[in-house]
Amino acid sequence: MLKSCGQKLLLSLVGSMLTCFLVLMVDQQKGQPGLRFGSDGAGLLLQSFEGPGRVAAPGSLLRTLSRGGSAAAGQRLPEVKSFTDYFSKLSRSKREAGMGGGGGSSSSLSSSGDRPEEGKRLRPPVEDLAPQDVFIAVKTTKKFHKARLELLLDTWISRNRGMTFIFTDGEDEELKKRTANVINTNCSAAHSRQALSCKMAVEYDKFIESGRKWFCHVDDDNYVNVQMLLKLLSSYPHTQDIYIGKPSLDRPIQATERISENKMHPVHFWFATGGAGFCISRGLALKMSPWASGGHFMSTAEKIRLPDDCTIGYIIESVLGVKLIRSNLFHSHLENLHQVAKSEIHNQVTLSYGMFENKRNSIHMKGAFSVEEDPSRFRSIHCLLHPDTPWCPLNVVY
Ligand SMILES: *[C@@H]1O[C@H](CO)[C@@H](O)[C@H](O)[C@H]1NC(C)=O
Repeated sequence: MLKSCGQKLLLSLVGSMLTCFLVLMVDQQKGQPGLRFGSDGAGLLLQSFEGPGRVAAPGSLLRTLSRGGSAAAGQRLPEVKSFTDYFSKLSRSKREAGMGGGGGSSSSLSSSGDRPEEGKRLRPPVEDLAPQDVFIAVKTTKKFHKARLELLLDTWISRNRGMTFIFTDGEDEELKKRTANVINTNCSAAHSRQALSCKMAVEYDKFIESGRKWFCHVDDDNYVNVQMLLKLLSSYPHTQDIYIGKPSLDRPIQATERISENKMHPVHFWFATGGAGFCISRGLALKMSPWASGGHFMSTAEKIRLPDDCTIGYIIESVLGVKLIRSNLFHSHLENLHQVAKSEIHNQVTLSYGMFENKRNSIHMKGAFSVEEDPSRFRSIHCLLHPDTPWCPLNVVY
């Protein structure tokens, strides 16, 4: 009896493995390795291996896996090439899922995974936050004032001018006419480590000067859903040490810290990728001051020779011992944005667009505008979130 049971179990296991393998093969032949699990049969099938109650929905897991490194950090985007590869990454990711959550094991924002309903399960508010309590720094460069910033000014910034500060590297009278808070950092326009750190240093100093409760950094290819951002931040006290965002790696970054002329020291820490946006509470920002204020941010960045967003992670995790709270509500162009379900768009804090694995990458949605009219999808997203915007067409069926 027991034996036949075992045989049946084995048979069914082998069967489902085979099916799974076939579906994966077919999926790969479509030329999109590992990008489409969330919504199709393979996802469900793989999910069943995980058993009930386990968090890792393969779609979201692959999102974690294929997130890749910060391009600035010179990391390569890992690809999920085969079934075995997938499972080895799966188990590694499962092992690491217990680490570095920071927000406590009960936090729906920590590493416990990105279930579609995550946004609805934000912790209850602990503070009333007004828009002017938040300082959103948008990092750009003069070259992108027209190509990228206009889109943001037309969409999310238009409703949130009082909280948005644009950090750039060149004078632009037309831009200043359109919006009040334009800060010329006088940093180099190069996309070098030094130039990026130079801008982050100015962002930090301006935030401290502003007296606001929260500092958030985004790039000029991010859409910020300010309503959700406020909701997220109001679930944490700004006087405590809060660093929240999305890591671009599935493991801590390894670096060496230069202690003196010829003494190096290995360090590893998590950091939130700047391309997805991240936020820091005032309480924590003030503690960062010896390493971040004035000219110190640049010298700290030199000490570990990493880009701006890594340097932030280094100061917070490695120097101050505060853990990054990982959130899947932040999105960069280094992840597959097709995986953000349309029904979940309104729950996300940041969105993005750009290129991913040499393909155009954007939120996949039918909307008020066609892909040709609105390749970033930001205008369609804006009309979805704010249908009362004058330029949004009326009566669009989504
Ligand atoms: C950049 O230079 C201009 C002109 O010298 C100056 O007014 C401005 O304050 C500088 N910006 C920063 C952030 O230091």
